[in-house]
Amino acid sequence: MASVLTFFSLYLMLFSTSFTVINAVFSEQSPMAILTKHMEKLTRLHFYFHDTLDGTDPTAIRIAGPANRSFSTTFMTDDPLTEGPEASSKLVGRAQGIYAFASQHDSALLMVMNFAFLEGKYNGSALSILGRNPFLNKVREMPIVGGNGVFRYARGYALAKTVSFTPKTGDAVVEYNVSVLHF
Ligand SMILES: *[C@@H]1O[C@H](CO)[C@@H](O)[C@H](O)[C@H]1NC(C)=O
Ligand SMILES: *[C@@H]1O[C@H](CO)[C@@H](O)[C@H](O)[C@H]1NC(C)=O
Ligand SMILES: *[C@@H]1O[C@H](CO)[C@@H](O)[C@H](O)[C@H]1NC(C)=O
Repeated sequence: MASVLTFFSLYLMLFSTSFTVINAVFSEQSPMAILTKHMEKLTRLHFYFHDTLDGTDPTAIRIAGPANRSFSTTFMTDDPLTEGPEASSKLVGRAQGIYAFASQHDSALLMVMNFAFLEGKYNGSALSILGRNPFLNKVREMPIVGGNGVFRYARGYALAKTVSFTPKTGDAVVEYNVSVLHF
C-alpha cells in the first residue's frame, strides 16, 4: 500500500511539474474574443506606388531570372508610396520587397513586400503583403498578412489598380486601397 501511494504521488509530481513547465515556457493563452471586441480597429489607407525601372535612379532592380523569358524574373524594390498619383506628391512610405513573375500560363506576380510608412502616427510602422498579383487585371486583391508598430496583429487586404504604365520602360504607377484590422 505504501509503495503504491509513493508511486502515485511521484507520478503526480512528475506529471504536474512537466506540464507546468511546458505551459509556462512554450505557450500562453489570453481571451482574444474579449480583447478583439474592445480594441480592434479598422484602418483604411490610400496611396500610390511608383515602380521605376529605368533612369539613373531606378527604384526596382532586376535581381534574377533568365534573359529570354519573363517567368521567374525577380525584382527587388524600394518604391516610393505617395499621397497622390504624381511622383512629386507627398511621400507617405516605401514599398520594400520583392516581386517575381510566378506564372507560366498567364500574367501574375508573387508579391512579398513590406509597406514601411513614414507619415504621422504610422511613421515606423509597416504592413506585410504576401499575395498573387495578376497585374493585367483592372483591380487585384492581395492579402495583408501582418504588421508591426501601430499595425500589430494586422490582417486585411489590399486592392491595387494600375493608373499608368509605360511599356517601353516598364515603369508603373499603381493605386492602392488597403483595409486592415489591427490592435
Ligand atoms: C533560354 O535560354 C536558355 C539558356 O541559355 C536556353 O537553354 C533555353 O533554350 C532558352 N529558351 C528559349 C525559349 O529561347
Ligand atoms: C519618421 O521617423 C524618423 C525616425 O524617428 C524621423 O527621423 C522622421 O523625421 C519621421 N518622419 C516624419 C514625417 O515624421
Ligand atoms: C480606392 O478607393 C477610392 C475611393 O473609394 C476609389 O475611388 C478607387 O477606385 C479605389 N481604388 C482601388 C484600387 O480600389
